[in-house]
Amino acid sequence: MIDEPSQASQIPGPERDAKVSRRGFAKYITVGGIAAAIGGIWALRRHFHSLPEGARLIAQADAIPVEGSIIFQYPTPEKPCILIRTGETSFVAYSRICTHNGCPVSYNPDNRDIECPCHGGVYSIADGSVLAGPPPKPLPRIRIELRGNDVLAMGIVQAEDLAR
Ligand code: FES
Repeated sequence: MIDEPSQASQIPGPERDAKVSRRGFAKYITVGGIAAAIGGIWALRRHFHSLPEGARLIAQADAIPVEGSIIFQYPTPEKPCILIRTGETSFVAYSRICTHNGCPVSYNPDNRDIECPCHGGVYSIADGSVLAGPPPKPLPRIRIELRGNDVLAMGIVQAEDLAR
């Protein structure tokens, strides 16, 4: 039995070389595309996994003036918190829920404290401790970390944890 020559071997030399070159080029393109896709997935994984468990981006530092504050939610959308910029590179954050009856507290830059409008509760911006009024315990503190211009919430420190 005589083997039929393949179609490729019937093509004259230079054209066959050109066909092989296109095939080789297609292989390079395919391998390059797969490598780029893997690289992209790796970069995305690295980006999303670079924050530890429980950490979340909550603000851009340059969007908040010194002595300014913003409201954010952490760790869940129904948990309001307050972020206060106390200096060029210093931020503090606390739960915004008053420990007395749950009214929303606000930062008062004139007094440099956190105040509750309902019954006159006053908290320290230094540690969330009660300075005046009926609140029975400090505001839970949100651990803040500054990474470049990113302000990150890194977890909650309960008042009981502070006492340890
Ligand atoms: S609810 Fe804040 S002082 Fe009463």
